[in-house]
Amino acid sequence: MAKTIIISNRLPVQLQINNGSINAIPSVGGLATGMKSVHSGSESLWIGWSGLTDEDTPPELEDAIDKALKENGCAKVKLNAQEVDGFYFGFSNRTVWPLFHYFLKYSEFELDFWNTYKAVNQKFADAIIEKSDEDDTIWVHDYQLMLVPQMVREKRPNTSIGFFLHIPFPSYEIFRTLPWREEILEGLLGSDLIGFHTYDYERHFLSSVRRLLGLEVSFNEIYLDNRVIKVDSFPMGIDYKKFRDAALVQVERKQDNRSDLQQRLDDHKASAPDTKLILSIDRLDYSKGIAKRINAFEYFLNKYPEYKEKVRLIILAVPSRSNVPQYQLLKKEIDELVGRINGELSTVNWTPIWYFYRSLPFENLIDLYTSSDIAWLTPLRDGMNLVAKEYIATRTDKSGVLILSEMAGSAYEMNEALLINPNNFEQQADTLHQAITMPLEEQQSRNTFLQKRLERYNVEVWANEFMSALNQKKTAGHAYISQKITNEYLNTISKEYSDSSKRLLFLDYDGTLAGFHKDPQKALPDEELYALLDQLHNQKDTTLFLISGRDKQTFGRWFLPKKYNMIVEHGVWISKDGEDFKLLENVKSDWMEKIKPVLESFVDRTPGSFIEEKNYSMAWHYRNTDPDFGEKRATELNTVLTSLIGNDDISVLNGNKVMEVKSSNVNKGRAAVRMLGEDDYDFVFAIGDDWTDEFMFQELPNSAITVKVGLKKTQAKYHVENTKRVRELLKRFAKP
Ligand code: ADP
Ligand code: G6P
Repeated sequence: MAKTIIISNRLPVQLQINNGSINAIPSVGGLATGMKSVHSGSESLWIGWSGLTDEDTPPELEDAIDKALKENGCAKVKLNAQEVDGFYFGFSNRTVWPLFHYFLKYSEFELDFWNTYKAVNQKFADAIIEKSDEDDTIWVHDYQLMLVPQMVREKRPNTSIGFFLHIPFPSYEIFRTLPWREEILEGLLGSDLIGFHTYDYERHFLSSVRRLLGLEVSFNEIYLDNRVIKVDSFPMGIDYKKFRDAALVQVERKQDNRSDLQQRLDDHKASAPDTKLILSIDRLDYSKGIAKRINAFEYFLNKYPEYKEKVRLIILAVPSRSNVPQYQLLKKEIDELVGRINGELSTVNWTPIWYFYRSLPFENLIDLYTSSDIAWLTPLRDGMNLVAKEYIATRTDKSGVLILSEMAGSAYEMNEALLINPNNFEQQADTLHQAITMPLEEQQSRNTFLQKRLERYNVEVWANEFMSALNQKKTAGHAYISQKITNEYLNTISKEYSDSSKRLLFLDYDGTLAGFHKDPQKALPDEELYALLDQLHNQKDTTLFLISGRDKQTFGRWFLPKKYNMIVEHGVWISKDGEDFKLLENVKSDWMEKIKPVLESFVDRTPGSFIEEKNYSMAWHYRNTDPDFGEKRATELNTVLTSLIGNDDISVLNGNKVMEVKSSNVNKGRAAVRMLGEDDYDFVFAIGDDWTDEFMFQELPNSAITVKVGLKKTQAKYHVENTKRVRELLKRFAKP
């Protein structure tokens, strides 16, 4: 039976060896805590690092380790200390983590880190290949393993691979600073589906793909030669029921069955019933804004001194990545800050901050969530922040106020929380005041909305949505896309070709017979192409037409001496057997002088774009502009032109990075059909790559073989991947 293979650096349990025996302790962090609920109970294997290095592991314990992991549905990838240093503490947490969280200054670009990252990613990929079957679904997680999808794809071209990034994907301006940016993108593009927490991260990723790899992106799909990759946002949820149920049990537990921590919290509440408890829980990470939060707390106490002795801030910071220098510095900074503020403000009855630097069992986490009046989470950047969701889920009586940074992914879905900018102390102090004084009804009304959403879109729904999007891609393929011309089908068409007695071929030029060039005038036909076209043109009983949007001067120069038949400017002009071009359609051109200034104003405002003036049409090319900006301008131009031309007999065509204005009664389809009527053909073939070729695909009779170049949506019956495949196909016709 096909399995799901989950793969991440961090497994849901971490192994520790104490006096020769192995302990499995639950992992901290959003990925592990969230995915754990999806993993248990399903038919899946989770592959990752056990938390132990080879050096920490006595060989005689290997089997026991495998057994302990197996009991948790896991299997290990073995890493030695040097690998953990370069891959985990190095590239993952000293290069990618700071960069993706916009801490550009902390990001270190070390070649050694990168080389180890690549080697360790290969180890993970090899483990997947070894432990999975061809029909298993592979789900790769997070920034530590961004090269794995492509590494697996190379060995398993047909396996379904999903990737989810649990941290932000930064804007192109940040991402482009990474020396290995192309390799990272290419690694990710080995996936079939790439998921992010928010639409913003998705948008940043697509922008980088477009700008750095120059790939075609349409809505949320990326087009490679032979595959389409889907990109989407899936905001991760929590195991709502687990937190809710734990809170219900906790609230109803009798006094003497309560944990020590809970009893201390209860005592505190009893002795100071007016005091509000403000809670913050994070891994000790600079992205979480802990130092800023403490400073903002001091600011609040100075601005609203009446709350001294009336509020207490509980900071639970979980030790994390402590071999990384920035984390060590942060630890020192927080220790000092807490010490200073407590030293300056404490009274006999009151310590403003309770600071815990440790990991706590789940039960204590629930104690803290249920006992605190306010949760105050101020990350400077956070992919999602599950703590915010967990706090709300534990509020069984719907009381409690969540103050959440706008910079957390979860803020997008938690509008009813009090959202703040963590850099704005004035706003934070006022928001704390608002939270402390918020009437219970308002708290309950806000939390009712929040809880409903969290309950509905829980982690299981999140994982199911991701998996079903991945499976859909696998089963449906590209239903709307035409059928691929396989080698087998190529044999069939070639046979039909040679068996026929009169053949008519329509071949588009740019993007079909030749690739694109920054300067269209430089996309010259090469010798191989001439030789191929000569063969087809000279073949008995074959009528070949080059059919293009190009102007007659250029095609005249390139192909007239060869006497190929040509239809140019989308069907305005025709030349047969080397004769001069003649008008194929009666077209007007008086509109052109009105449109030209509009196009010129777009050229002025869009660097890299230019106008191509043909005899009966005008084209605005934007291939060389900034891709996002070019698309934006193209949409704008489309709106302007459509409103300008009104009911006139002219229309706007959106080609491949070109927008063309021309007479409506001219198109390639109409021209092709006219040629078809001139003789009795029993083999009709048309091939092209863009929107303007769709007219041919639509208007030629059903018996025609119509072929799209590329994987875009089309009316053609078949497709081939690229211009190289077009030539292979035509070579078969040339020598049937
Ligand atoms: P991140 O993934 O960056 O650490 P999140 O807020 O998304 O941040 O996830 C943190 C997860 O770790 C939460 O599920 C939380 O319950 C868990 N966690 C945080 N602190 C502790 C702790 N002291 N002990 C156990 N689990 C913790
Ligand atoms: C974040 C990352 C996870 C990581 C977790 C804990 O949630 O997205 O990939 O597992 O932090 O960090 P750690 O370095 O301890 O695995």
